[in-house]
Amino acid sequence: MNFWQKLKKPISLLAPMDGVTDTVFRQIVVSAGKPDVLFTEFVPVDGLVSKGYERILASLKYTEAERPLVVQIWGAIPENFYKVAQMLSKLGFDGIDINMGCPDESVIKKGAGSALINNPKLAVEIIEATIKGANGLPVSVKTRIGFDTIDIESWVTTLLQTPISALTLHLRTKLEMSKASARWEQISKAVKIRKKLKSKALIIGNGDIKSLQQARKMVKKYGIDGVMIGEGIFKNVWLFNEKVDIKKATPQKKIKLLVKHLRLFRKTWGNKKHFELMKKFVKCYVSNFNGAFASREKLMATKSLDELIQSSTLLTKSTTSWAQPHDRVKPAPP
Ligand SMILES: Cc1cc2nc3c(=O)[nH]c(=O)nc-3n(C[C@H](O)[C@H](O)[C@H](O)COP(=O)(O)O)c2cc1C
Repeated sequence: MNFWQKLKKPISLLAPMDGVTDTVFRQIVVSAGKPDVLFTEFVPVDGLVSKGYERILASLKYTEAERPLVVQIWGAIPENFYKVAQMLSKLGFDGIDINMGCPDESVIKKGAGSALINNPKLAVEIIEATIKGANGLPVSVKTRIGFDTIDIESWVTTLLQTPISALTLHLRTKLEMSKASARWEQISKAVKIRKKLKSKALIIGNGDIKSLQQARKMVKKYGIDGVMIGEGIFKNVWLFNEKVDIKKATPQKKIKLLVKHLRLFRKTWGNKKHFELMKKFVKCYVSNFNGAFASREKLMATKSLDELIQSSTLLTKSTTSWAQPHDRVKPAPP
């Protein structure tokens, strides 16, 4: 039995997000409320078989608290998937996920990510090569419901005819990027195909889900195994912990977690990653309270990680800053 089969359903998953879900953010999310499964940011198989592989491997750092942790890879050359699966199977990950959904032009140009939806033969070769190299580790796929148009019947049938352990469907086409609303009703088709093919793959839905309550509704409504959540975590870092009501969380509680996040970033990456990367997280913690806007402006103006940590720490101690007027409100039109 692999780890996917041992999970209690419904399964909650934190989505892979490039530039976001590194070991630092994953540890922070786990400390706030643990999802059942976590994913790394996606990494290129071509890079992992090239000279610069050590830098990419360093970005895949993880801690035991993040298990079960699935490493996500992307590319278009089956031989490289084979070699990389062999390499990754020795590094202790719980599973390997293949990205077949990325809509970025730089990825598509290489025939990878969502371009594989238009190349099912290559997609199957990639899955087979990964399974062959994975040394028994479960292999899963994350994809979209079509390239230009919805194409579930043939695409999901192709994927579920392979022995993958889980299939995550981001319920948009590549063309829709992340603009249109996720088409949840489409996932019923995937569930039917699985039944018809007697596939054992778990089916995970993804797109626009903002709470575990909403996730459970989808699981029940569509008969899927779990829900993956991405951007929802930006609005509520405690999303996977239903004991915390984010509307009632105090500014201190939120900013304390920001300080923890910043300190862990400094400890983990030192100056290996640019501190400006951390500024995009500020809004996750410093929002929805009086004075949040002004506090954010202060933090965004900092010039170093140490200064950002110091200013954030000061905020946790300050009560006066929250007595300022509400976040800037647009004046009503005349
Ligand atoms: C900043 C960002 C980075 C992303 N990086 C990845 C990635 O590395 N691999 C991947 O499969 N999906 C990636 N995605 C897509 C998400 O995993 C997810 O499918 C998408 O955000 C829809 O789910 P949501 O509505 O819950 O956010 C990324 C999304 C965002 C916003």
